[in-house]
Parts: sequence; C-alpha cells; structure tokens
Amino acid sequence: SSQYQTITVDRATAPRVALITLNRPEALNALNAELISELVDAATTLDLDPDVGAIVLTGSDKAFAAGADIKQMQDMGYPQTYTDNLFAEADRLANLRTPLIAAVAGYALGGGCELAMLCDILIAADTAVFGQPEIKLGVIPGIGGSQRLARAVGKAVAMDLILTGRTMKADEAKQTGLASRVVPADQLLPTALEVAQTIGGYSKPATWMAKEAVNRAFETSLTEGIRFERRVFQAGFATADQSEGMAAFAEKRPPNFTHS
Ligand code: HXC
Repeated sequence: SSQYQTITVDRATAPRVALITLNRPEALNALNAELISELVDAATTLDLDPDVGAIVLTGSDKAFAAGADIKQMQDMGYPQTYTDNLFAEADRLANLRTPLIAAVAGYALGGGCELAMLCDILIAADTAVFGQPEIKLGVIPGIGGSQRLARAVGKAVAMDLILTGRTMKADEAKQTGLASRVVPADQLLPTALEVAQTIGGYSKPATWMAKEAVNRAFETSLTEGIRFERRVFQAGFATADQSEGMAAFAEKRPPNFTHS
C-alpha cells in the first residue's frame, strides 16, 4: 500500500492471506533501517487483523534480499550500532503469532537469509541462492543468522557457510532442511500463496498454538517442551473451532471454522 516506500502490501491475492513484497529493486532489496521499520510495521498490523490467517513475504525474481544495506552500514562505529541497536527491531517479526511464509527467489544473502529464517516456513524457487557472506566484509551475521542457521541446518553446514562465506543453491537448502520445498521459479508465488491460504483456512487459534508449540522446541528441554505442548493442546479444547472441527469430521462434512 502507498503508505510504504520500500515494501508493498497486497491483501487481494488469496482469501485470509496477506502478501508483503520487498521493493528496493535498485539495491536488490538490501535491508536498510527504513525497510526493516516498514516491514515490522506492516507485519505487526497484519498480525492483529482477524481476517489475516497467514502472511507471505517475498522479494523479486532476482533477489529476496541481498543482505543488510552495506552502504548504509559502511561508516558506522560501535557506539552508533549499539545505541541504534542495529537491526534488533527485526526480532519483532519472530514474535508475530501469525504464520509467516518466506517465498525466496534469487539472492537471500546475509540479512536477506536471516530475514527468510525469521519466517516460519521457507519455500524456495529453484533460482534461490542462500548464504551468510558477512565474513567477507569483516563482520559476522547480525540478525540471528549464527543461531537460526545452526538450528536449521546443524553445526557443520552452518559453520561451513558462515566461515567460508560460500553460497548454497536451492537443492542444498532443501536437502539440509533450510527450505521445506523447492519449486520452479514461476511456481514460487502460487505455491506460497496456496500454502498460506491452506493455513489461513484452518482455525486461527489452532495455527497460532501450533506455531507457538513448535517454536518452543528451540527454546527449552524436551520434557518441558512436551509439557508445554500438552497444556496448549488441552487449551485448544476451549475453542469453538475444536468443537466444530471434530463435529464436522463425525458428520462427514467440511468444517466451518470461525477462528475462535
Ligand atoms: C547495499 C547492495 C547490496 C547490499 C547489492 N546492492 N547488494 N547495496 N547493500 N547488501 C546493490 C549494488 O551495490 C548495486 O547498486 C545493485 O544493488 C545491484 O547489485 P550488483 O552487485 O550490481 O548485482 P550483481 O552483479 O548481479 O551481484 C549480485 C550480488 C552482489 C552477488 C548479490 O550484489 C552482492 O554480492 N551483494 C552483497 C551481498 C552481501 O555481502 N550481503 C551481506 C551483507 S552484510 P549500484 O548502485 O552499484 O547499481 C549483512 C549483515 C547482516 O547482511 C547483519 C547486519 C547486522
């Protein structure tokens, strides 16, 4: 929508789906402070919208995002990065309750790869190229890459990528577990929107609970995580959608979820 300079927001692509497109083509969607700020604003607004069940985040055919904006960071010193808390705002995307799907074509490098990993599901076009090349610039990942990449693909591959700065293509991203699906480039957006529409059609409280429970796996022990899951599972029985979903099964008809 017109209130943003560096992204667009489209609510008309599919029912209960919002599409956010990064839109700084002149810099391959490099992430500057304005883009992060607009993205967080748009996503947090959509998160509160009862008619949005899933959000797709995408870039262009050439680049999801080619990293943090190197030209904007070039002349910064530590006091400024510290007091500005450079890129800390991006963490707010990880705290959204609505499922977020990254649809990645082309370059997803540095902060671009980190932004994709902040999403809940990563779908890659066969043109996608992932990497954390910060080491080549004399720095390290700074929007969660060292932590999320290690959790997504394991220590060996994360160390390989982060220490050498090499890139990996879509097939390796799929094979290592960074991407859940790889599709031909012209199928990227249709696939991501279909996945989002599927999720958006389910009970909103149930999808929120499911996301919260999976995320808990990365924050706690197995015993505590299972205990958390059990409580949230049981809480699901307080929703109208649980009654409806199970009644619909018993009556051999499609459920009519009210997202309550
Ligand atoms: C600023 C960028 C940019 C970036 C590309 N551009 N990436 N500007 N920051 N990260 C700009 C280029 O300067 C150029 O502008 C225009 O986008 C097109 O890019 P080209 O390089 O001409 O395109 P191409 O030759 O196709 O090469 C694509 C590329 C390359 C391989 C992706 O652009 C590249 O290596 N970019 C940097 C990738 C990177 O190092 N990312 C990590 C950043 S550090 P002009 O004006 O010349 O046309 C990071 C840290 C995260 O992300 C944590 C921070 C806290």
